[in-house]
Amino acid sequence: MGRHMNDLFGLGGEPVLGAIFDLDGVLVDTAKYHYLAWKRLAQELGFFFTEEDNERLKGVSRLRSLEILLETGHCSMTEEEKAAAAEKKNAWYVEYLHALDEGALLPGSREYLRQLRAGGIKTALGSASKNAPLILERLSIAPFFDAVIDGNLVSRAKPDPEVFLKGAKALALSPSSCVVFEDSAAGIEAARAGGMRVIGVGRPENLPGAEKYVASLQELLFCPDQIWW
Ligand code: BG6
Ligand code: MG
Repeated sequence: MGRHMNDLFGLGGEPVLGAIFDLDGVLVDTAKYHYLAWKRLAQELGFFFTEEDNERLKGVSRLRSLEILLETGHCSMTEEEKAAAAEKKNAWYVEYLHALDEGALLPGSREYLRQLRAGGIKTALGSASKNAPLILERLSIAPFFDAVIDGNLVSRAKPDPEVFLKGAKALALSPSSCVVFEDSAAGIEAARAGGMRVIGVGRPENLPGAEKYVASLQELLFCPDQIWW
């Protein structure tokens, strides 16, 4: 008997025709570089920003991340100062990204994208990052996406569903036939608000609301002899 296409996701229910991937923390291990850059900014402002503090920044836009950092350090800035500080953090982050190579891809990312596409599933990127094009290019994974929606194309940050709704639209699919892969609470909320199914990449206790959880995309890979198409 042939396999159902939802076996590619380990999901039951209605057929899933499209997969929309968050980038940072789902496909690529960039969270450590974001953290290094925010920690450096906090140090300049005179406080220590812990890795635990950094959890709150995952999935959140650059400017909102800065605001959370300032709250954590009990600092305040004018809008102009915020823009300059966010710019400074980004320059450091982009400098760290120069060290990025294919080893930064999280386990199973490339293989899973390849399997989904071979199975006829449409794929999109749905990321808050304005640096997504640079990262896709450095990791040579741009050809794995039918559509790329990133921080340059959205005006409302997750948990607003805009980025994922634009992703589904670009794939010409209804939101309910798409599954989103997310490692952040804001992203899971966004996908659900958009009427999509969600697979959480990470621990269930940190990511309420997903339909299924995996530690990494590697868990969803089929053995080559099990592929049915
Ligand atoms: C998200 C990250 O993917 O992108 C956040 O999880 C980050 O940590 C956000 O702040 C915006 O990224 P960038 O690269 O535009 O600063
Ligand atoms: Mg993420």
